[in-house]
Amino acid sequence: MKFFAGCTALITGASSGLGAEFARQLAPQAQSLVLVARRHDRLEALRAELSGAYPGLAVFTYVLDLADAEARLGFVRWLNEQGIVVDFLVNNAGLGDHGPFESSEWDRVRAMLDVNVAALTHLTHALLPMLHGAGRAAILNVSSVASFFPLPNLAVYAATKAYVTSFSEALRMELRDTGVSVTALCPGPVHTEFFDVATRPGDEGNAAHYETMPAFRVTPEEAVAEGLAAVARDRARVIPGPLLAAAVAVAALVPFFLVRQILQASRARI
Ligand SMILES: NC(=O)c1ccc[n+]([C@@H]2O[C@H](COP(=O)([O-])OP(=O)(O)OC[C@H]3O[C@@H](n4cnc5c(N)ncnc54)[C@H](OP(=O)(O)O)[C@@H]3O)[C@@H](O)[C@H]2O)c1
Repeated sequence: MKFFAGCTALITGASSGLGAEFARQLAPQAQSLVLVARRHDRLEALRAELSGAYPGLAVFTYVLDLADAEARLGFVRWLNEQGIVVDFLVNNAGLGDHGPFESSEWDRVRAMLDVNVAALTHLTHALLPMLHGAGRAAILNVSSVASFFPLPNLAVYAATKAYVTSFSEALRMELRDTGVSVTALCPGPVHTEFFDVATRPGDEGNAAHYETMPAFRVTPEEAVAEGLAAVARDRARVIPGPLLAAAVAVAALVPFFLVRQILQASRARI
C-alpha cells in the first residue's frame, strides 16, 4: 500500500495476533518498525523474520509493560534518544476479561483499564508532538465492535472500547487540518490469542466466545488489511467484514430500549 511507503510505524501488542499482522503487512513498505509488547522472545522472532525478508527494513523491539506509566515514559525517552521519529502510531495492545463483573479479579480489571485506556491515551498524548513534527502522520486505534454496545459478561472490556472509539472520533476532529489523521478499527471476532487471554482460569467450559458469531468472523489478515486501507483513505472508523458492518449499521437504527432487551435476553450466550 503506497500510503505507508517509507513510514516509521510504532505497533503496540506486536507479539501476537493483530499486532504481529500489522507488522507483517507494513513491512514491505515501511522504513522502520518499532515493535512493543512484554514477550521478548516473540518480538525477537518477529524481528528476525521481518529483517530476513526485508533487508532494508529497520526493526526495533522494546519490551514494555504498557500498564506501567513510568515504563511508558521511559519508552518515549528511549525513542527520542534513538532519534526515532514515529509517523504512524498503531495503538493495538489490549486484553479482555469474560464473565460477570462481580466475580472478576480486580488485577485483571485494572489491567484492562491501564492497557486498553490509560496506555493508549498516554502514548497518544506523549507522541503527538513527534507525530506533528513528522508532517503527515496517522494514528490507528484498535477498538472493537464491542465499543458500540454495553455487553454483559464483557462489561469493563466493552466500556474500555467505547472509550477508545469515542476518544478516537473526538481526537480526529481536534486534529483535522493538522496533517495527523485518526482512525478507529472496530473488529468483531478474529481468531487470535485474545479469547484464551479473556477466558478466566477454570472457566474454560464457559469460554469467551470466538465461535458464536461465525457470520461475523474475519481473519487477522482481513482485519488488518481493512484497518490499513481505512487509514490510507483517511476514514474515521472501520468495521471489518461487510456483514458485521451492515449489522452494526442496522443496529444503530434500532431504539436503544430494544437493543437493551435483546442484550439482556441473550446475556447467557455473550
Ligand atoms: N481478537 C478479537 O476478536 C478482537 C476483536 C475486537 C478487538 N480486538 C482488539 O484487538 C487488539 C489486539 O488483540 P488480539 O486479538 O491481537 O489479541 P492477542 O493476540 O491477545 O494480542 C494482544 C497483544 O497485546 C499485548 N499486551 C497485552 N497486555 C499488555 C501489556 N500489559 N503490555 C504490553 N503489551 C500488552 C500482548 O503482548 P504481550 O502479552 O507479549 O505483552 C499482545 O501482543 C486488542 O486491543 C483487542 O481488544 C480483538
